[in-house]
Amino acid sequence: MSRLVVVSNRVSVPNPKDREGAQGGLAVAMHAALRRNSGVWFGWSGEVSERPGPAAFREADGFTLATIDLTPDDYDEYYNGYANRSLWPLFHNRMGHTAYDRLYDRGYFRVNARFAHAMAPHIRQGDLIWVHDYHLIAFAEELRRMGSSHRIGFFLHIPFPPADLLVTLSSHETLVRGLFAYDLVGFQTDADLRAFQDYVLNEVGGVLHRDGSLEAFGRTIRAGAFPIGLDLDEFRELAASREAARQERRMHRSLAGRKMMIGVDRLDYTKGLENRFLAFERLLADYPEHHGNLLLLQIAPPSRGGVPEYGAMRSEVEHVCGRINGRFADVDWVPIRYVNRGYPRRTLGGLFRAAHVGLVTPLKDGMNLVAKEFAAAQTEEDPGVLVLSRFAGAARELDGAVIVNPYDPAVLMDAMQRALNMSLEERRERRDAMSAALKRNTVADWRDRFVSALRETPRTRLSEG
Ligand code: G6P
Repeated sequence: MSRLVVVSNRVSVPNPKDREGAQGGLAVAMHAALRRNSGVWFGWSGEVSERPGPAAFREADGFTLATIDLTPDDYDEYYNGYANRSLWPLFHNRMGHTAYDRLYDRGYFRVNARFAHAMAPHIRQGDLIWVHDYHLIAFAEELRRMGSSHRIGFFLHIPFPPADLLVTLSSHETLVRGLFAYDLVGFQTDADLRAFQDYVLNEVGGVLHRDGSLEAFGRTIRAGAFPIGLDLDEFRELAASREAARQERRMHRSLAGRKMMIGVDRLDYTKGLENRFLAFERLLADYPEHHGNLLLLQIAPPSRGGVPEYGAMRSEVEHVCGRINGRFADVDWVPIRYVNRGYPRRTLGGLFRAAHVGLVTPLKDGMNLVAKEFAAAQTEEDPGVLVLSRFAGAARELDGAVIVNPYDPAVLMDAMQRALNMSLEERRERRDAMSAALKRNTVADWRDRFVSALRETPRTRLSEG
């Protein structure tokens, strides 16, 4: 069987002693696939150095890890710049947060080329190459320039934007041409796939063939929706562990009979934290019976501190949270518990079980695995209710959730109130519907579907003329 080479900005080192579930399901699924055929995972070391050397290789529990450092300019222009100040906001429909800066463009394509050059000498004939996420869209084109005819797949973990937004980037065509250097391009949802097709058909005169393949820039490629799943058994096992039960008891003790809603999100402006807090504020204003009897636990580990928009958003969220707590808190009750740290998934499993409501209300999200984890953790006995944004990819599968428009505070408030008062019977029905959806598509199914589709793509086809 051909060797698998995985390429992504962040790499994950397996830790066999990871009893806490610190590593996400995606990392674990990739480790398993890499181990099966002695593969290689290649990406950024997480280090910034003035003079980065060639790729450093080390054995990592059954496969090889290959990493390179970034220079300070790479870090600013590629990671903080184009990836996280241009592509990230734009692909999440946040034009107001998008930076348009030629320096960032150049840095991005330079680093993609550097990644490809560092890896090329180590790629063998017959290797299957799988590139992940928006940081490395231009990786394959650079490999092709060096003569590679490998099967190369790309999976975008975040949404694909509407053409009208994408064309605001001066590099839009270069980016999409870069996607046509792959043999297979995967998206989270059909809507993302359609947005991509729409761009290709209308902006660059491409053709959608009857077999679903897309032709443009002189190449014909496959593109499809491959919604990412959860390692359901693993997460259920974590949520049913003794440690999770301990955390659940700890939480119940601290709740002392109150109800709890929980949110777990990276501190990111796409997650809609401010909207969530404002809706909660309205709930407290309109339904005084919740005073002293309900709290919102918001776990929000900070991220991307080098990107100014994240700092601004953080101050805003802190301001709103402080105001709401000041307005409603009493000597023995604070409505929002706002926590800027991350927790192992085992702990989260217990907290999810202790919660009456899970709030996953991003303004836009590729999939959102927290939604799936919250759903997976719920028990038949006393399941919590998931309130889920229609703008998260997960909403297309988790029809047992209460689906909301997070932009409208009244809608969000009503959903909270409904979820808090839902009968046990309805909660069970909704939980069962979500369990069935989670079973239909696990992270291993997702990985295997993508890899098989990549293996089966016709050899690179160049158009005539
Ligand atoms: C999202 C992206 C990932 C990224 C993660 C954490 O989930 O899709 O590619 O790794 O955020 O962000 P960071 O910038 O810390 O890698």
